[in-house]
Formats: sequence, structure tokens, C-alpha cells
Amino acid sequence: MSVLEFTDLRKRFGGVDALRGVSLRIGEGEVIGLMGDNGAGKSTLMKILCGAVRPDSGTITMDGAPLHMRSPRDAAAAGIAVVYQDLALVDQRDVATNVFLGQEPTRHFVVDRRRMRREARQILEDLSIRIPSVRLPVGGLSGGQRQCIAIARAVHQGGRVVLLDEPTAALGPEQQANVLRLITRLRDRGTSVVVVSHNVDHVLAVADRVVVMRAGQIQGIRDVHATSATDVVGLILGDAASEAVSHMTEAATSASAVNPLEPSRSA
Ligand SMILES: Nc1ncnc2c1ncn2[C@@H]1O[C@H](COP(=O)(O)OP(=O)(O)O)[C@@H](O)[C@H]1O
Ligand SMILES: [Mg+2]
Repeated sequence: MSVLEFTDLRKRFGGVDALRGVSLRIGEGEVIGLMGDNGAGKSTLMKILCGAVRPDSGTITMDGAPLHMRSPRDAAAAGIAVVYQDLALVDQRDVATNVFLGQEPTRHFVVDRRRMRREARQILEDLSIRIPSVRLPVGGLSGGQRQCIAIARAVHQGGRVVLLDEPTAALGPEQQANVLRLITRLRDRGTSVVVVSHNVDHVLAVADRVVVMRAGQIQGIRDVHATSATDVVGLILGDAASEAVSHMTEAATSASAVNPLEPSRSA
């Protein structure tokens, strides 16, 4: 039974066909790795799914019911949460406030800080996110910790489908592993995740299926257990280009056969 389904989504910007009929069903607790070269249409698809951009045509359903999203607020109400690349955290505010941002628990019309801190601690603990104190301003935390807090907020604010745009791109190996582990924990809780990534190793480590886009269409869908980095890179590049680099990628992927979920020991 699919949670989120979209059918024949199309979007044109001026003369550019950003999406040329894209369809997919995403299951409960399924992790989709969304890959593709720059300009393939990944961001446009994510923006449509989170209500930030309206498609020219096509349908989106959640639990089988049609969604007509006019804004990200509509998507959030339907259980679709997005974590943008800039994370939208308020650096000066503490961890607890950032987890609840805009939905702080109140008591007699003022923010109930004790309750907020207690609940924030619980939310982070449930997701095995280790932060020294929920009283710390998020501005001083590492990139990986910040990413995890933004994801925790998305889940806490009702995200049953969480959209992540390059969550590991700006992080070092240890922090990347933390974020990847968090994605697998979300899956274990039944949350569905769509994660845009350029890193084949990361996608193969956490995704159930890899969806490769090219020029506004889905070029191929692979079960991670029935594919390889070479196969996925081939889909991303297209026939001619992949032919030329297949030897290089084979050499490169066997040389870097490390598990990205394991923190690197050399660091
Ligand atoms: N707001 C926009 N206005 C005009 N063209 C856009 C806009 N957003 C995306 N595009 C174009 O649509 C195509 C797909 O872009 P995008 O979805 O950002 O791809 P990706 O995220 O895979 O790199 C590109 O050719 C891009 O230039
Ligand atoms: Mg993009």
C-alpha cells in the first residue's frame, strides 16, 4: 500500500520542460534515493511534492486521497515535510526551540519552556540523536547535528513523508554517517523518505529504491539489492557517457568499498 503517489507530473518553466511526465508510488517506511545530473528535474519534483511549486498537470495522492496543494502549509497538513538545504534553523535559539519552531507548547498563552525542553529531549532520544544539551544555541553545533535537528523537527511536526535535499553534501564522513543512520531509523519507524543525493554510496547504503531522473523524466528505477554503483552511474550519465567511464567507475567503486554508515577510522 503506497503512502504518497504521483502520476504524470509535468512542469514547464518558460521554454524549459523541467518535468515531462513523472510518476511514482512511495510505500510506507520506504526510502527513495533520488539521483540525476544537474538540471534533471529533482528539485522541481521535490518542490512540487512539498507544495512550493504547482505542477502544470498531474495528480498527487496521499493514502489514496487526492491532494491539491496551494502552499507548503497544505503539504505539511497532509503529512509531507521538507528539509531544505539551508535547514531553516534559527541559529540564536536553542535546540529545543528549533525542534518546535512555530509549534511551541504553551501554558497560559506563554511558551512552556520546561515542557518544551523535556519533549525535545525525548524526541531526540527517540531518534538516537545525540546533542549535549537542548539548551544550546544551534548556531554552535556541527553541520551534522544541525541536519539531524532539522530532520527531527520535520518528523515531530507530523511528517510521514520526509523530503531531504542533499542532506550529506556539506558534511564530513562522521557526520554523514550520523545523518544516514538517522534516515534508516526513520524508515524503521515507518516514515517514508525521499532523499536527493549525488553520492551513489550513500544512496545504496540507505535507500530501498534508487530513482534516476534525466531531462525531466525517470530514466530508471532500481531496487538497491538488485543494482550496483556502476549500473546507477550508467543510468545517471546515459549510454554514451557511461560507456566511456564504466571502467573508471568500476575501478573507483572497488577502491572505495567502504560502508558509509561506519564512521571512518582514519579521520
Ligand atoms: N524557477 C525556474 N525558472 C526557470 N527554469 C527553472 C526553474 N526551476 C528549474 N528550472 C529549470 O528546470 C530544469 C530542472 O531543474 P531542477 O529541477 O532544478 O533540476 P535538478 O534539481 O535535478 O538539478 C533545469 O533546466 C532548470 O534550469
Ligand atoms: Mg537541484
